[in-house]
Amino acid sequence: MTTPLTSTSTDTPTSAATPTGAAAQPQTTGRTRATGKEWWRTAVIYQVYPRSFADSNGDGIGDLPGITAHLPALRTLGVDAIWLSPFMTSPQRDAGYDVADYRDVDPIFGTLHDFDRMLGAAHELGLRVIVDLVPNHTSSDHAWFQAALASAEGSEEREHYYFRDGKGENGDEPPNNWESVFGGPAWTRLTDPDGTPGQWYLHLFDSSQPDLNWEDPWVREQFRGILRFWLDRGVDGFRIDVAHGMVKAEGLPDETDAEHGGSMSGAGATLEPDISDEPPSSPFWGQEGGHEIFRDWHTVLAAYDGDRALCGEAWVSPPSRLARYVRPDEMQQTFNFSYLETPWQADALRGVIEDSLEAFGGVGAPSTWVLSNHDVVRHATRLGISEDNPQGHGLGPKTPFRPDAVAGIRRARAATTLMLALPGSAYLYQGEELGLPEVIDLPDSARQDPTWFRTNGERYGRDGCRVPLPWTSDGPANGFNDTGASWLPQPDEWAGLARDVEESDPLSTLSLYRRLLSEREARALGAGELEWVDGLGDDVVAFRNGGVTVVANLGTASVPLPTGLVILSSEPLSGSELPADTAAWLAG
Ligand code: GLC
Ligand code: CA
Repeated sequence: MTTPLTSTSTDTPTSAATPTGAAAQPQTTGRTRATGKEWWRTAVIYQVYPRSFADSNGDGIGDLPGITAHLPALRTLGVDAIWLSPFMTSPQRDAGYDVADYRDVDPIFGTLHDFDRMLGAAHELGLRVIVDLVPNHTSSDHAWFQAALASAEGSEEREHYYFRDGKGENGDEPPNNWESVFGGPAWTRLTDPDGTPGQWYLHLFDSSQPDLNWEDPWVREQFRGILRFWLDRGVDGFRIDVAHGMVKAEGLPDETDAEHGGSMSGAGATLEPDISDEPPSSPFWGQEGGHEIFRDWHTVLAAYDGDRALCGEAWVSPPSRLARYVRPDEMQQTFNFSYLETPWQADALRGVIEDSLEAFGGVGAPSTWVLSNHDVVRHATRLGISEDNPQGHGLGPKTPFRPDAVAGIRRARAATTLMLALPGSAYLYQGEELGLPEVIDLPDSARQDPTWFRTNGERYGRDGCRVPLPWTSDGPANGFNDTGASWLPQPDEWAGLARDVEESDPLSTLSLYRRLLSEREARALGAGELEWVDGLGDDVVAFRNGGVTVVANLGTASVPLPTGLVILSSEPLSGSELPADTAAWLAG
């Protein structure tokens, strides 16, 4: 009764169709792997979270030599590029998103030489490499911040950050009402060397992550140099952390009640009316002044050969506002978080796809698509949640509900099957190709996300999506290393989700991803155009792209499959029905 996912020759024709076998064969004339000009328009980019990918020296933390050793597995998977979360020198108070030296590698990850070797090995395999740049804030350990602390109020050194006097009679109230994304106030007061309370400094994230002042030309000059440092080493681009937060409203005005919430998702829900010409909805997110910086960086990258690219992390919505970050003289890509945040509901999904293609297409940029990353509950779990679970809260043993794990992985496979057929560029997060779920039952003592500490355990934060990868079903730490050490403990069940187990199972999530990626490439879907297919019911999302009909059933009952030869499906199919929470690609 089943249709294996990995073999074209056993594809099941649906009853109404009498296609020839050849119709379902991958086209070999399509555009090849995204290595050419403007490669980023169609690329599938795999996010490597270095501390959890592979550990070469057995200290329990993944590292650069670990990545180098496993690059062939990513080549086999079929991605075009990798994005590395930060590996620069850092006290690791926010897992490396707190950089103390932008021009060196943290010893826990290796050396600059290890980086160069990794980059060379990736390029030899035809994989592009994007690195993470964190310009909104430095670590409080950074020499710039230390110099600011050692300098007088009003000094040039303090001008690189946001130092302000407090409000109230003794200056003991913060300068404004902004809240940290990780919980608590966004301001911390200094104690001067003589023990008296001093000025306050701004940190939209942890108190160990002071915000840089991007109005200061000196700061801008430093970052041009940092971009060139990595471009000279040969990186293919940058993922820009908190791109929507770098510039603050003049005078640092209070957030009004309507804006208040400390959320990272800016205007929040998807499918809002088009507000792209309205002023931004927060004094620190989505300010107009940020775009000047991206135009400047565009010219820095343009001076290099090889189509280097910027991808912004900008939590703004709707897509029409997001598209402003990828106008022709700004960044090349921006993450489509409206897509990620869309619930498993057909009209919402159709709406966000349409809005994205229209908004990005309107500025000549590719749309991007993403379902998981290191900041959100993994989509194999998230899609099994029907309760409210705000971004950043995460899941833990005391969360008042349990996600439906069975529905979650089934929907996740369907969601990815649909996503990888969309035109544009897609991002994958390490481990989703194994169908890894969020780890809910981490012990409190293992948690490391600053969110957990800053909210006194009220929000679990993001550790549950950051657990080290299982490579083998036996052996220490499931092959993450050879000592068994692991900075976050892996659940026992992960032995069954290890890469070596899934490699030999044609029905595994890994086999599905490989198949999706090779068919996507062979049929040049990234460079294609979407045309809606209607009339299949309210719970169905269906479209055609590059000669492929893509059908996803988001409802609770089976629906008839349209005619055509099944190329692949997220679950085994029998007959001519598409079961609930299943997606399929059909030829013809
Ligand atoms: C971004 C990163 C997140 C980090 C934050 C502060 O949102 O993705 O992991 O904590 O910025 O740098
Ligand atoms: Ca290590």
